[in-house]
Amino acid sequence: MQQADLFANQDEPSPEQRVKELRRQLEHHNRLYYSKATPEISDAEYDRLFRELEELERKHPELHDADSPTLRVGGEPIEGFEKVRHLVPMLSIDDVFELTPEALEKSPGTRAEKELIEFYQRVRKGLGHDDVAVTIEPKIDGVAVSLVYRNGKLDYAATRGDGTTGDDITHNVRTIRSIPMELACTKAPSIPPLLEVRGEIFMPNEAFAAMNAERDEAGLPTFANPRNATAGTLKQLDPKIVAKRPLAFLAHGIGAYEGPALETEHDFHSLLDALGIPRNQPVIDAHDLESTLDAVGQINTLRHELDYGTDGAVVKVLKRSEREKLGFTSRAPRWAAAYKFIPEQKETTLTAVTIQVGRTGVLTPVAELKPVLISGSTVSRATLHNQDEITKKDIRIGDTVLIEKAGEIIPAVVKVIRHHGHSQPFSLFDHVKGCCPSCGGPISQEEGFVAWRCTNFQCPAQAVTRISHFSSRKALDIEGVGETVAEALVRHGHCKTPLDLFELDENTLANLNLGTDEAPRRFGEKNAAKVISALEDAKNKPLHRWIYAMGIRHVGESAAKELSRLHADLNELADSPILRELLADTRIDAKKKNEKLAEYAITGDVGPAVAQSMVEFFESDAGRFALKRLGKLEINPKSGNFLPIAAKADTSKMPLAGLTFVITGTLSMDRDDMKAFIEEKGAKVSGSVSAKTSYLVAGEGGGSKRDKAETLGVNIISEDELQELIAAKSQG
Ligand code: IVH
Repeated sequence: MQQADLFANQDEPSPEQRVKELRRQLEHHNRLYYSKATPEISDAEYDRLFRELEELERKHPELHDADSPTLRVGGEPIEGFEKVRHLVPMLSIDDVFELTPEALEKSPGTRAEKELIEFYQRVRKGLGHDDVAVTIEPKIDGVAVSLVYRNGKLDYAATRGDGTTGDDITHNVRTIRSIPMELACTKAPSIPPLLEVRGEIFMPNEAFAAMNAERDEAGLPTFANPRNATAGTLKQLDPKIVAKRPLAFLAHGIGAYEGPALETEHDFHSLLDALGIPRNQPVIDAHDLESTLDAVGQINTLRHELDYGTDGAVVKVLKRSEREKLGFTSRAPRWAAAYKFIPEQKETTLTAVTIQVGRTGVLTPVAELKPVLISGSTVSRATLHNQDEITKKDIRIGDTVLIEKAGEIIPAVVKVIRHHGHSQPFSLFDHVKGCCPSCGGPISQEEGFVAWRCTNFQCPAQAVTRISHFSSRKALDIEGVGETVAEALVRHGHCKTPLDLFELDENTLANLNLGTDEAPRRFGEKNAAKVISALEDAKNKPLHRWIYAMGIRHVGESAAKELSRLHADLNELADSPILRELLADTRIDAKKKNEKLAEYAITGDVGPAVAQSMVEFFESDAGRFALKRLGKLEINPKSGNFLPIAAKADTSKMPLAGLTFVITGTLSMDRDDMKAFIEEKGAKVSGSVSAKTSYLVAGEGGGSKRDKAETLGVNIISEDELQELIAAKSQG
């Protein structure tokens, strides 16, 4: 052992070896985590390995591999889906029996049992013997997928499509971490040359509930159930979006196969386990009709504990030889049947609609219900998502409605069963009289969005979100004030709005309790000092950061920069003749407006929506109040890029005039700041390298742009060389 340590340096692996090793280890831990649920290392250790790999891949772009665990965040968007012809048709199940919760309770003599007897008898007859061994497992309510592995590597993934031809969804499947890109070979006797795994991609119930809640908050339409969310996600052309959605996979079947013989379903399961492919569980064995029916009942009880939606149970003949003997009809195997569990639904009365104001100001209508017991718990409230949903379903107060749990977790109003004479239609806007129920501020509905939103900068319901946004890196960068601190500041009554931060003293901050009364956690002197100094720095941050930090609707970073180009400081912006004219002109004279746009060369980042939003903000009570407070604090942020008449500005004398730059890799400042810096010196900054590019400013990494610049013979310079260039040009 000691000797090995002595020579450790000599044995240091090459970057290529280390990258390979890290990829192998990360895949291994992914597999342990997802297919066996027996992690060997902590999340922190996993993150460390992950970051080491990321770093090495950035330094060595030549070691790129589309299958690397780091690329599970999604590659480039695709144009459209390629079609794949399935090696073996992807069939469905013909024998599907519906089973209501009541039918399951009364066992003998029900229709469902009769259908199972018929299926079982057909199987017996086909095989010529009694007591056929079968397995019973949950039917996953997901999207069917086929994963083709050749020599242990994922070759492609495809949807079922029409059963013969499906869509190639490999780019999206790469982002699903429970799907191995490479199969484990440790315990497997050997890797099968060809293995087509069939299974379901789904969204775990809890992740679905959290995602829908987030979408409600963001004013985006929600998904009706986890299956729709999954199907919608897999249709995305941009894998980066898919990577952000919590999808998972479980295997339940096999398609094309070349490898050691598999006699039974159990052999197949052992193979999946050895290869590290997560599979659907539990699988219950049964050997006759009675135990089969009993197993279906067990699955029905058990399904509430599973983390995915199940809409039934699947019964399959155990032995492969018997399956072959039974064969297929044109559409489905004769060796499988399915029970479909009808979700539990209950009727109840909708007694009222209340409004919740979310952390981002979205007003969400909530149905107050006469309490009913559904799928094991009492339900007395259900989200109605938004006004559109209420209108579409024609939900009125006093109605008898049908309730179920979407994805087993979230109570939802399925539909109205009956309106009554006394039922009252509901309008969210009228109900709140156009004002936010939390602060009384104005509400607005943006074009293209279903949600109504409170626009008040000082709304207490939004305090935490607004304070953390105000302090975020791209806003005023008040390091240390993230969600947790913002939440504690609001909870303890120290802050109601972002500007209250400037009234904090070091002592209050140091004693701030981030924990609970039982388990207190002090913010501490060191952190407090850092925040106070960051707040001092913030006072002198350029205008565009302040505009962005205010969190005014429609005003993102680009609009904020354009606004700060047009105004010298905050006070000028608050009383902006340009914005007023922009607005007035849209109402009166489009031609005049265009002239104005031409005069100031206003970019598309600032249009009527932004102008309206800005003017409304400064005219609102909250806006006026904010200005007054800033005045008292002697804060009047100055523009860092003031150049109101760009069209007439003489850029020709600036040091980098006439040059075009492209930026790549990791630099000392972030991309946007570097872009602004170069533009201030009179140059253009473009997103891609072409023959017209004068210089590529390259930090560490930056693979493809660097390659292209090299191919085209474009000058590649470092950040230091850029500074030298500016210095030289300024003198010259
Ligand atoms: S076995 C060829 N097992 O349900 C049919 N299917 O309606 C054999 N499904 O196409 C399928 N969970 O996409 C099987 N545990 C499970 C399943 C399952 C969901 C899907 C599958 C199939 C459809 C049948």
